[in-house]
Amino acid sequence: MQSLLRLLQDGQFHSGEELGAAVGVSRAAIWKRLQALEAEYDLQIHKVRGRGYRLKTPLSLLSREALNDCSPYPITLQQQVDSTNAEALRHLASGAVPPFLVVAEQQTAGRGRRGRSWTSPFGENLYYSLVLRVSGGMRQLEGLSLVVGLALLQALRDGGITDAGLKWPNDLLVGGRKIAGILLELSGDPADVCHVVIGIGVNINMRNAPQGEAISQPWTSMRRVLGQQVDRNRFVTALSGQLERYLQLHQAQGFASLRELWEASHLWQGRMVELAAGAQAIHGRVLGVDETGALRLEVDGQEKVFSGGELSLRLHDDS
Ligand code: ATP
Ligand code: BTN
Repeated sequence: MQSLLRLLQDGQFHSGEELGAAVGVSRAAIWKRLQALEAEYDLQIHKVRGRGYRLKTPLSLLSREALNDCSPYPITLQQQVDSTNAEALRHLASGAVPPFLVVAEQQTAGRGRRGRSWTSPFGENLYYSLVLRVSGGMRQLEGLSLVVGLALLQALRDGGITDAGLKWPNDLLVGGRKIAGILLELSGDPADVCHVVIGIGVNINMRNAPQGEAISQPWTSMRRVLGQQVDRNRFVTALSGQLERYLQLHQAQGFASLRELWEASHLWQGRMVELAAGAQAIHGRVLGVDETGALRLEVDGQEKVFSGGELSLRLHDDS
């Protein structure tokens, strides 16, 4: 099945004969296989008499060879998983030794922060989970998700998305629309030795949300911003390179050394915001972040500091 898709990913016509010869089945059997592909991955394949078959929308599929060639981390590439974070945790439980990376073409139960779901169509976006061993206790985790945001921002900029910015704690937006999200999950005891799964979702070539799966907030993708398809293998390589660089800086010098850089790309620096903490809403002006990555707000003339995974920031209507 995968070899058929690889042939078709260019969006050009391929004859039944060519496809059949490539996968070793009869011409007659090809259409059945293509229909199975359509159903499994929610794809549209056009069949035109005399010309053959083509994908309605070309794809840039992930290639094990291309990824392994220049990855600083060992990679597992899956076609379809529930969630690359969940898969990475399973690898860890069955003895895989970090650092390692899990990427997938599709997630059937991609997860966002606070139990929300992450839309993850086949072959279009990036679903990337990097597992690291954390041995330096809480200090090594402080600001980690913000540093991942910085690495991702740089990879997006290298890929031509020049006006992306950060929203505390770790969303990436372009023109007020979400282009990428980060979900960190811990396994083990953070006070002792533990592992962190750095889950990253990037909208790369998504043009429309999958049918019946509207995304409940404004979003965009690299393709939408650039107006052309992006090579996903190249983007993964760029992202891994940036992560390696920023994670090294973070480990050696802590978040304090990256704090100014982070604030320089914070879209809501100085803006009036509403911070939702459970049922409570706090109104204030964004001062920045502290050495641990916590949010500093000016609330009623006083500085207050907020951290934790359950917080959610919104711009004030009249900001
Ligand atoms: P906050 O955490 O500050 O509330 P948020 O509104 O982005 O930020 P998250 O929980 O971080 O919420 O992200 C999950 C939300 O992201 C989902 O509820 C959905 O609205 C949106 N979402 C889901 N899939 C995608 C996607 N592929 N691209 C952009 N946004 C998505
Ligand atoms: C968010 O903004 O809510 C975080 C979204 C994180 C999505 C990525 S996709 C790869 C990894 N696997 C998951 O199930 N989630 C993260």
